[in-house]
Amino acid sequence: MTADFVELDQSSVSGILHIGGTILGTTNRDNPFAFKEHGEVTDKSQMAVDVYHSLGLECLVVIGGDGTLNIAHELSELGLKIIGVPKTIDNDLVLTEVTFGFMSAVSVATEALDRLHTTAESHHRVSILETMGRDAGWIALFAGVAGGADVILIPEIPYNVDSVHQKILQRRKKGKKFSLIVMAEGAKEEGVTLSDKKTKMSYVLEDALEKRGFESRCTVLGHLQRGGSPVSYDRIIATEYGYQAARLIIERKFNQVLVLQGSEITSVALDRVSGLTKFVPVDHNLIMASRAIGVSFGDEIKKEEIKS
Ligand code: F6P
Repeated sequence: MTADFVELDQSSVSGILHIGGTILGTTNRDNPFAFKEHGEVTDKSQMAVDVYHSLGLECLVVIGGDGTLNIAHELSELGLKIIGVPKTIDNDLVLTEVTFGFMSAVSVATEALDRLHTTAESHHRVSILETMGRDAGWIALFAGVAGGADVILIPEIPYNVDSVHQKILQRRKKGKKFSLIVMAEGAKEEGVTLSDKKTKMSYVLEDALEKRGFESRCTVLGHLQRGGSPVSYDRIIATEYGYQAARLIIERKFNQVLVLQGSEITSVALDRVSGLTKFVPVDHNLIMASRAIGVSFGDEIKKEEIKS
């Protein structure tokens, strides 16, 4: 049994507010319940429990997204005391309005859209920006609104190419020779299932639009969204999440996850969060507002109206 740990004191966390990443070297890839080693998958959870007890820990503060908090929940069932802190760029944890990391990713995606705007406009092209978001379209929605995208495609609203085509044409009629599309990596075209997991829907859309006569360029933002300096909003909520986590430890209130609701950070039981995904509601205010000003979500032309 190896107990690899770092003792944290004030000096270890001093001067890191403005940088991203992890000072611990932690990763969300190693699941102690299904640990991959030498081509085999084994359950090493008891080892994690033993290390926890051998170090005399009072609780584990677990910082991460759905995968991490699910593991934390399973560990809590083995008797470990947990405090969860919602950190993911995906913003898809239930019961919390904003996870930290999300606004930084939105800001990177918005800046990318601004840059693509310039070149799309000069070259009279359709620019497609693919953001992260396998299951939930939060980054695409927020960046799309902030970056003034003409079309926003998210997993929660399956799209058809006819609706996207129509929006581009409408803009052309108004003298706008370019269009900006932002799509989440998990956006789904109605009736299409990709056989190859490596194929990206953003490239499929780029192809489809090219075939319809629109010069198109696709940019996959990928991991650029997960790196670099956090925006001030994330620094602020991370500071408060940290403070509230410490408060829970002092109060010995365990097996809780911190959540931001309204302007307040409170906590809810870990089992109310684990295993669930916060999808973008299809009637979210930002979707309604965007539709009202003519943004397409790729679903305006209904299935029955599409000629085969
Ligand atoms: O959950 C965070 C996230 O960045 C997702 O948005 C994305 O789909 C996934 O991780 C990418 O994972 P990986 O870094 O393993 O490619």
